[in-house]
Amino acid sequence: MKCELTEISKTGIQTYRLENDNGMVAEVITYGARISKLVYQGIDVVAGFDDPEGFRGDNPYFNAVIGRFANRIGNASFTLNGKEYPLYKNDGNNHLHGGKEGFDRKIWKATVVGNCSVRMDYVSCDGEEGYPGNLCVSVTYSLDNEDALCIRYRAVSDKDTVCSLTNHAYFNLSGTFDTALHHELTIRADQVTAIDNELIPHGEIVDIKGTALDFTIPKLIGKDIQNDDTLLKLGNGYDFNYIRNNDTEEPIATAFCADSGIAMDVYTDRPCVQLFTGNFLDGVRGKQVYGFRSAFCLETQGYPNACNVPSFPSCVLRAGEEFRSYTAYLFRKP
Ligand code: GAL
Repeated sequence: MKCELTEISKTGIQTYRLENDNGMVAEVITYGARISKLVYQGIDVVAGFDDPEGFRGDNPYFNAVIGRFANRIGNASFTLNGKEYPLYKNDGNNHLHGGKEGFDRKIWKATVVGNCSVRMDYVSCDGEEGYPGNLCVSVTYSLDNEDALCIRYRAVSDKDTVCSLTNHAYFNLSGTFDTALHHELTIRADQVTAIDNELIPHGEIVDIKGTALDFTIPKLIGKDIQNDDTLLKLGNGYDFNYIRNNDTEEPIATAFCADSGIAMDVYTDRPCVQLFTGNFLDGVRGKQVYGFRSAFCLETQGYPNACNVPSFPSCVLRAGEEFRSYTAYLFRKP
């Protein structure tokens, strides 16, 4: 097992390479604390760029840490302790994935913290993007010999704030990134949060058993994606927040690609996962060309817009308390 600094790009982006005893490799860069490569049995399963500088260009959050708040906040504002906090509007009238310059566009400070672990630290100042409180965030990537990439999130603020962190990895388990539609997917969730036409949830929870959104029984992503389902039309494909049924011992989701024989289990302690089928990908050129629906994301998260919906579990992080969560992507050949 090893973890080492392998490259410094022309603007100073550092690349850390983690390798386990089976030869599985994860590369993580200090720009956005992004995963730049994830190679399992010779196949790179994440979208990205060979040159880390490429991540600075136009791409929809490729494999980045998302914060201070993953997904959308309606009307780009929330009220906490009686005070209204206006946020940056970067998605129409709404706030998406942390704002104009979210955690995905920051340079993080890297520290090797184990024989196959690197910690990325970032301090988000009071008022950044409109959020209250200085928030110290650390995200630790570890690769183990079970072939799991584990991401541990920690954050502490000096004022009450809101916090929900995720990673926006784009996967394709065939490695060719032609299409994501041939992956067989299981999501252990009977419900999603309903969304309005700006993709904002307001509290309504929908039962999806037996509908085109249902992945409780393994199903190809492409099977029902053209269905007339109202939500599917709104999302222009899958772009929904699934609420887990199961406890954290079991994966919240599993994807499988018959072409490569690779399966990926997603374990997390978060209550939800956003399934996004790359409906906004439009031919970004990187290691490959990433066209419409050529990759899928399983973004573990809290409830989107929770800071405006009292019936959703709270996303408030009280001053001095620690936000902690983890997500692990486990790779195997069944
Ligand atoms: C997803 C979100 C999508 C889209 C995408 C980035 O997390 O659910 O609606 O914004 O990120 O292109």
